[in-house]
Amino acid sequence: MSDELLDLDYKPHMPPKTDYGIGIVGCGGIVQYAVLPTYKKHGLNVLACHDINHATAESVAAEFDIPNVYENLEELLANPAIEIVEISVPPRYQLEIARTCIAAGKHLLCQKPLADTLPHAAEIVRLAREGSVKLAVNQQLRWGQGLRAAKTLIRKGWIGQVVDASIQVSVNTPWQMWPWLAISPRLEVQYHSIHYIDAMRSILGDPIWITSRHARNPLQGEIVGETKTITVMDYDTDLQVLIADNHYNHSDDYFAVFRFIGTEGHITGTLGAMYNYPDGRPDTLQWSSTRYYPEKRFEAKLEGKWIPDAFIGPTASLMQAIQEDGVPETDGHDNLQTLRVVEAAYQSAAENRSVNIDECQAVPCPD
Ligand SMILES: NC(=O)c1ccc[n+]([C@@H]2O[C@H](COP(=O)([O-])OP(=O)(O)OC[C@H]3O[C@@H](n4cnc5c(N)ncnc54)[C@H](O)[C@@H]3O)[C@@H](O)[C@H]2O)c1
Repeated sequence: MSDELLDLDYKPHMPPKTDYGIGIVGCGGIVQYAVLPTYKKHGLNVLACHDINHATAESVAAEFDIPNVYENLEELLANPAIEIVEISVPPRYQLEIARTCIAAGKHLLCQKPLADTLPHAAEIVRLAREGSVKLAVNQQLRWGQGLRAAKTLIRKGWIGQVVDASIQVSVNTPWQMWPWLAISPRLEVQYHSIHYIDAMRSILGDPIWITSRHARNPLQGEIVGETKTITVMDYDTDLQVLIADNHYNHSDDYFAVFRFIGTEGHITGTLGAMYNYPDGRPDTLQWSSTRYYPEKRFEAKLEGKWIPDAFIGPTASLMQAIQEDGVPETDGHDNLQTLRVVEAAYQSAAENRSVNIDECQAVPCPD
């Protein structure tokens, strides 16, 4: 059995240079339980942090041995040793912070969603290009172990032409972790399915037609936005991708599964993080192939978890792009394609119809 064929190549590739000075803006949940633990594991050089709530920044700095805590963004940007700024604030604040960081010549790692509107996201991308800084977006599900391995299998031809793919998640989501989301009129697709849309795009490319249906749950109380969604992405081939999420499954029959059906095989797996977010468990992966080993079913034992291990992916890719003057895998411009699908999903749900992706253009907001 060929080692090359069986190499799932799912772990993030670290670039030769990883000691860039990093400054963190926004020190909330995701920074504490995902970003900084993985940076510590990889020995990255986090030099400073800042949060509008200074006490939060101080306690995070103490916990993770960060040498500088700044009361305002400008002070952090004035530190010449900081080359990369990682922004982790609610998305409506990201444009203005990004604008200031880009003007200071810093490379950027922004959280998803890049902005709460497509024009604001396009504006961040335009500013980064104009300012000649690298911009990556923290769409780290692309480095989720199961989906990354599935991508490798597909690339190596194990299942032939993919004709059907799906991610189906039915769990009980701890929305209380994000109080600022409760008032957002857009919830599930913009903040959660966006990961699945982006990961599917990274494996299968860009869809043409988007059809999306959204619902609320009687138990969700004052949470405004949709919490149950079904989105179908149709491609210019006969490929269809289904993304179906329900965040109010209180039974013990919850699941988070992905599937790729091809002309010569199939891949199935689970997204471990969703079984008890944010602790999670490792992803699983099984596959079979009539092309390579028709008599066998394969199962991989994947190392690591989505949180925190996948979070090094976008950062490693950004660092690689800086040193090679290349493009990060989750480059801002690429991310606009994910956001166009998100936009199309909301348009589809609002207008009860399928939306062609070309109807959703990413135009920068006027200055
Ligand atoms: N990639 C992922 O898987 C993932 C997971 C969760 C959250 N997120 C994203 O990360 C971002 C933050 O989410 P969170 O869960 O950490 O939220 P959070 O509410 O726990 O933390 C946000 C932090 O930002 C600070 N803040 C707000 N405005 C600020 C400003 N103008 N300047 C400096 N600090 C400011 C707040 O004080 C708070 O500490 C959001 O965009 C969210 O969508 C991404």
